[in-house]
Amino acid sequence: MWPDRRLCDVLGIEHPIIQAPMAGSATPTLAAAVSNAGGLGSLGCAEMAADALLTHVGELRALTNRPFNLNFFAHPAPRPDPVRFARTREAVLPWYRRFGLAEPASAASPHGPGFDATRLKLLLELKPKVVSFHFGVPDRASLAALKTAGIALMSTATTVAEAKALAAAEIDVIIAQGWEAGGHRGSHEPRVPSDGVGTFALVPQIADAVRLPVVAAGGIGNGRGIAAAFALGACGVQIGTGFLSCPEAGTDATRRAMLRNAAETDTMMTDAFSGRAARAMRSDYAREMERAGLDLPDFPSMYDLSEPLLGAVDSRAASFLLYGQAARFNRELPAPELVACYVEEAAAVFARLKT
Ligand SMILES: Cc1cc2nc3c(=O)[nH]c(=O)nc-3n(C[C@H](O)[C@H](O)[C@H](O)COP(=O)(O)O)c2cc1C
Repeated sequence: MWPDRRLCDVLGIEHPIIQAPMAGSATPTLAAAVSNAGGLGSLGCAEMAADALLTHVGELRALTNRPFNLNFFAHPAPRPDPVRFARTREAVLPWYRRFGLAEPASAASPHGPGFDATRLKLLLELKPKVVSFHFGVPDRASLAALKTAGIALMSTATTVAEAKALAAAEIDVIIAQGWEAGGHRGSHEPRVPSDGVGTFALVPQIADAVRLPVVAAGGIGNGRGIAAAFALGACGVQIGTGFLSCPEAGTDATRRAMLRNAAETDTMMTDAFSGRAARAMRSDYAREMERAGLDLPDFPSMYDLSEPLLGAVDSRAASFLLYGQAARFNRELPAPELVACYVEEAAAVFARLKT
């Protein structure tokens, strides 16, 4: 039924529906359920330590023998900048006082790059069918080693220039992530939160610019969105927010409640939590920090200052609840049923458009 099977062929899957790798929210149970339903399940391995990664992949492999995707952040190590850290500390201090918290950290904790030799070695041992990256790609030698091991590589582009850079790095699949998307924007360089291109404008321009399979991500929540992605030139979709309401997801109770009554205006783009732009539910803290327009510590050092604020008070005051602009379409269905709904709805739209 799919009008373009390139993604299915490259990834070895039945339906061109990728469950987005959502660090902290995508569990092995969710990923396995999606893969078993014919889509591509993904695990967000961003901050995962090696032993946790091994445990998660073991759990996943016990539940499915279908292809799955392991996802990593490809950001460089944050540059130490005590002056910027101290200035930002001054800005968050009133929030600590307001929430009755102890003093903020006075210096950034040590952080390495998002992808390193340890992760590469693990992947070459684990040999998942697919590996994807966010925030660019690691060095050429790492990419070549992964490709030689027979692993299909995907990475995110938020502009045409980023898509061209991924094509030049010989990535196999490009995920065109629009402004509507929940979670971190995969921009290769940090950008101000107000700087973004929507899915409807981005996907066809990337599809015209590169010869690779393009996957549309951002604001897709039902069969109409999936069919539209194909009309725009994509040969698959990556959906994150839509899977957050599945019982298999690791979504916390607060966010599940928010998603039950979600509206298209719930969220905003903010870098006030991690130092990189991400779409999350609006909160007083995020709004005021965006208004202040500070030059924040590099990702992920900003977490050293923001993390104590989360959960200190109610989520309207400060929270980092990541979800996208199409959350209204969320359904509380087991993941296999949700995938089946997406397939059935998309088929109905394709059939209707043919007449
Ligand atoms: C809760 C959440 C966490 C996310 N974490 C990651 C991640 O770890 N790695 C990644 O590549 N993308 C991540 N994303 C972005 C998704 O890959 C994808 O671009 C986005 O979910 C698509 O838009 P949608 O949420 O409207 O479906 C995350 C998205 C959400 C909602």
